[in-house]
Amino acid sequence: MNLQTDKSVVTTSVALLSGLALLAAVLFMVAALMSVFSHIAPDDNLRKQAFTLERIKPVARVSFEQPKPAVAVKMSGQEVYNKACAACHAAGVMGAPKVGAKDQWEPRVAQGLDTLTTHAVNGIRAMPAKGGNPALTEANIRESIVYMLGETGIKTDAAPVAADAPK
Ligand code: HEC
Repeated sequence: MNLQTDKSVVTTSVALLSGLALLAAVLFMVAALMSVFSHIAPDDNLRKQAFTLERIKPVARVSFEQPKPAVAVKMSGQEVYNKACAACHAAGVMGAPKVGAKDQWEPRVAQGLDTLTTHAVNGIRAMPAKGGNPALTEANIRESIVYMLGETGIKTDAAPVAADAPK
C-alpha cells in the first residue's frame, strides 16, 4: 500500500515534470518564433516588402549584356605583346623570331607589314592565329608586330624605334 502510494506519487511527479518541460519547450519555441517575426514589424510595409522580395527573388537572371572580350580591345602594341606574344617571341620558342634578333626578323619584314599582320592574324606554321587570343583585333596584332620590330631596331612606317632598342 505504502509502496503503491510512493509509486503513484513518483508517476504523478514525473508526469507533472515532463508536462512542465513540454510547456517550457513550447513557450521557448513560441518566443523564438515571435522574435523571428518581430524582425518584420507588421506595420512596417517597406521592410515586409523587402523581405518578401528577397524571399521570392529569382534564382537566376537572364542578361542580354555583351560578354566582355577576354582581352581588352584598347591596348597598346606593347601591352598586347606582353600579354599575348612575349611567351614565344621573347625567347624565340619553337623557332619564333626573337625580339631583338634583327637577322631573324629582317627576311620576314621583307614580306611587308601587311603580310606579317595577315600571317599573325591567321597563324602560320607553329605561329597560332592571333597568338592564341581570338579576342585580339587585327589592329592589336599589327601594333604588337610594330612594337616587336621597334624593340628589335627595325623601323617600319608606323614604328617609331624605341630609344633603348639595340642597334
Ligand atoms: C605559341 C607561340 C607563339 C605566340 C604566343 C605568338 N607567336 Fe608569333 N610566331 C611563333 C612562331 C613559332 C613563329 C614562326 C612561324 C614560322 O614561320 O614557322 C611566329 C612567327 C610570327 C611572325 C612572322 C610571320 C611571318 O610571316 O614570317 C609574326 C609577325 C608573329 N609571329 C607575330 C606574333 C604576334 C603579333 C603575337 C602576339 C599577338 C605572336 N606572334 C604570338 C610563335 C608564337
